[in-house]
Amino acid sequence: MKVTVHRKAHFNAAHRLYRKDWSMEKNDKIFGKCNNPQYHGHNYELITSVTGEIDPDTGYVIDMKVLKDIIKEEVEEKFDHKNLNEQVEEFYNLNPTAENISVVIWNKLRKRLNANLELEVTLYETPRNFVTYNGQ
Ligand code: NI
Repeated sequence: MKVTVHRKAHFNAAHRLYRKDWSMEKNDKIFGKCNNPQYHGHNYELITSVTGEIDPDTGYVIDMKVLKDIIKEEVEEKFDHKNLNEQVEEFYNLNPTAENISVVIWNKLRKRLNANLELEVTLYETPRNFVTYNGQ
């Protein structure tokens, strides 16, 4: 029997979607307003979902205090109020789309969790646009 627990977190960050190796015209055509050279911000909402067996000793899949602290250290402290393109090294050469941000976050969190736990992240860039990644 496996149970999934979910933890919500939040960060504000700025980004610009573009490729340095494309012309301004091509970047505008593909990325539209997201290619604004002055950047723009989002209120990102992150849902971290951890699946595993219930520990018979504690009754927990994972101690939510431990999960909260991992998310704080790996995501909130590194991304909140940052310019992702300029201040977060994973995006120096990676377009900070919601898709790529979700993969970067998943990799950071995966390293901190026991191997017997499954991980999925859901990242909302806007209330209507969100992505999920589970390592596949
Ligand atoms: Ni954007």
